[in-house]
Parts: sequence; C-alpha cells; structure tokens
Amino acid sequence: MRQVEQIIQAKRIFTMIDEGRTSMAETLYQNPVDDYICENQYIKEWEKLFLERPIVLAASAQLATPNSFLTHDLSGIPLLLTRDNEGIVHCFFNVCRHRGARIANGTGKAKRFVCPYHAWTFGNEGNLIARPDEGSFCSSSRDNFQLTELPVVERYGLIFGGLKANNVLDVDSALNALGPEIGSYEIANFEHFETYDAEWNLNWKLAIDTFLESYHFNVLHHKSIHPIFYPNLGAFDGFDDNLRLFFIRRSINEMRNLPEDEWKLLPHIAGVYVLFPNTVFVWQGEHAELWHAFPLGTDRCRLRVTMLVPKASNSARTAEHWNRNLKLLLRTVEEEDFPVGEGIQKSFRSGAQTSITFGQNEPALQHFHEAIKRSLGIKTVL
Ligand code: FES
Ligand SMILES: [Fe+2]
Repeated sequence: MRQVEQIIQAKRIFTMIDEGRTSMAETLYQNPVDDYICENQYIKEWEKLFLERPIVLAASAQLATPNSFLTHDLSGIPLLLTRDNEGIVHCFFNVCRHRGARIANGTGKAKRFVCPYHAWTFGNEGNLIARPDEGSFCSSSRDNFQLTELPVVERYGLIFGGLKANNVLDVDSALNALGPEIGSYEIANFEHFETYDAEWNLNWKLAIDTFLESYHFNVLHHKSIHPIFYPNLGAFDGFDDNLRLFFIRRSINEMRNLPEDEWKLLPHIAGVYVLFPNTVFVWQGEHAELWHAFPLGTDRCRLRVTMLVPKASNSARTAEHWNRNLKLLLRTVEEEDFPVGEGIQKSFRSGAQTSITFGQNEPALQHFHEAIKRSLGIKTVL
C-alpha cells in the first residue's frame, strides 16, 4: 500500500480505536441457511462463479523460475501450470492427448512431461514432442495433439486462470481497483514457504466467512489472537464484488509517538482481501497468505493455504520464525475456526432456523454474500 494511503488508513483506524467504533453496515442482514446447503445453488455457483470468472490458481512465487511446474487439483479439474523457458506461464489440462492419462504430479522443474501410459512426451509449452513407434500409431501431425491450454494471466504476483477453455480473463475488471494495491505488497518478489491442503465438512462460503469479522476474536480466539488483535474492530471497504478488511494489531499504538511521515501501517494490520469469489489474500504484517476454498458439494470443501515470505536476502527472519507463524496460523483455524464451522454446517441441516444473522458490525460478511447473490441473480431479502 502506498505510504500516503497507509497514513490515511492509520488515521481512520486511530479514530475507530479512540471512539470505540468499527465499520458498520446500515442494517442487520438475514442470510438464508439454504445458501449453504442448496444443491441447485451449488450447481449455479459452479457455473457462474467458478467456471466463468478468473480464479486465483497460485502465487507467482510458486512457479518462481523458468521451467518450473505445478499441478493443481483443488477444483477437481486436473490442471498443469508451467513457466516456460522464456518465463511465460501456461495452464493446461493435466491430461494426455492420447488416451487421457495424467501427465504430471506434484511440483518441480521440468522442460518436458512423459506420459506414464505410452510415453507420449509434451514440452512445457504444451507441444507434443515425441510419440513412441510413431509410424505404427498414425500419420496425423503431432501439432494436432498438443495439450489443451486454458486461459491464464499473471499479474500482481498472482496467477489467475479460467477453468473453461476459451474464457476471456479480464483480471483488472474482476479485481475492481484492488489490483495495484495487491501488487503493492510485492509478493511477486516473495518466496513460497509452504502450502498446506485440507478438506473440511463446510460449505466453501462458510470457510470464507471465518475471515470476515473480528467480533469473535475475544471469545473463540481468546488465547490465540485476542492478545495480539483488537476484537470487534475492522476497517472495511467493498470493491465491487471484492472486499478489503483490516484487522488491527494492538502494536499500532507504537505509531502514535512517531511523526506522521514515519508511520508504517503494514506491520500493524492483518489485511484481509476477498478476491471474489473464492480466494482470500491475507497480508499478515510481515508475510502473506493465500487461502483458496473450492467446493466439494454443498457440505464439504477443499482449502489450501499458501504462505509467502520475503526472500531470505531481504529479511533477517529465519525459517524457524516462519514455521512458528505457520503453526500458530494452522492451530488457530484447525482447532478453533473450522471445528466451530463444521458444527454450524451440521446446524444448517437440523432445521433449527431458516436464516442466520450478520450484524451491523459484520459488514464484510454482508458484502460477500450480497456479491454471491448478485452474481447468481438471487434476490436478497433483508
Ligand atoms: S495415454 Fe498418454 S501416452 Fe497413452
Ligand atoms: Fe477466526
């Protein structure tokens, strides 16, 4: 974030702290329980949100060097991301053009991929390089059997893909002015520290909901987050379907004794950005996280967190420091947020209530669910 913007936001936050206020929505918001369990809505979400929009697939740092690759299966669609020799990123179906076998696994470096079934060999630009016993197979040109490529755009340190061939990706309109701000964190120059995958019995939106308010910090996270962050305090802004929510570290008060032009806000916030629909970028003061939620039906989701840290040459922090951060993060979500979320998901099936309530102090939740409904053409009942 630009220095001038950091000062504007810091003043806004100090006023909130001093007046005991948080960003507020105009009214309460009743969100239907059906939003999290309806099979028809799930199908619509898949079509409208996941297949039609640019989706963040990875951080650039995960494909840091030419000839690196990354397989991606979070959506259920097998993808192969490559960075070719010239540094250009490609996204292919991870599917052999002969009989459909998977051609790559995991991550690593490779200029070519040999299919494990009959050894057709593809380059990292998707070209078919070799077919064993080609003369006996056919006379059709290898060019007719290139890997099927999907649209992909690399911008602001992120790799956006379209999960349907021929999608036109307009990343900047999708991000609605947030792009340069995300870019200002310079995560393109960060290192990939760790990626952690898990599946939870949660609707994918419920997983995102856990990031969108600090009202629970002094209760559910009494021992973990509450000593570090102010509870029930968030500076919220919507950016079309996307949103930004700053949570505030108590350490921000250290800035009060400094002249304004020396204020540096970034170490004192957690900056939560929902890159609609299913990615949460979190600036954590010193490092960044990317959270991706993908649906596995109505009541289950896959979650990936990718931790990005400054390059060792730019930071005095050690791997041990980042490991401690990662463990705290995983313990908080795995022992506190998501177990409660799984209980909530079960409650949705119980018939106890037809809607849940987002408070006026939870504007980010309201904004996220409004964006979902708007995108699916569902009318809101307030
Ligand atoms: S399926 Fe890949 S070479 Fe036959
Ligand atoms: Fe939480």
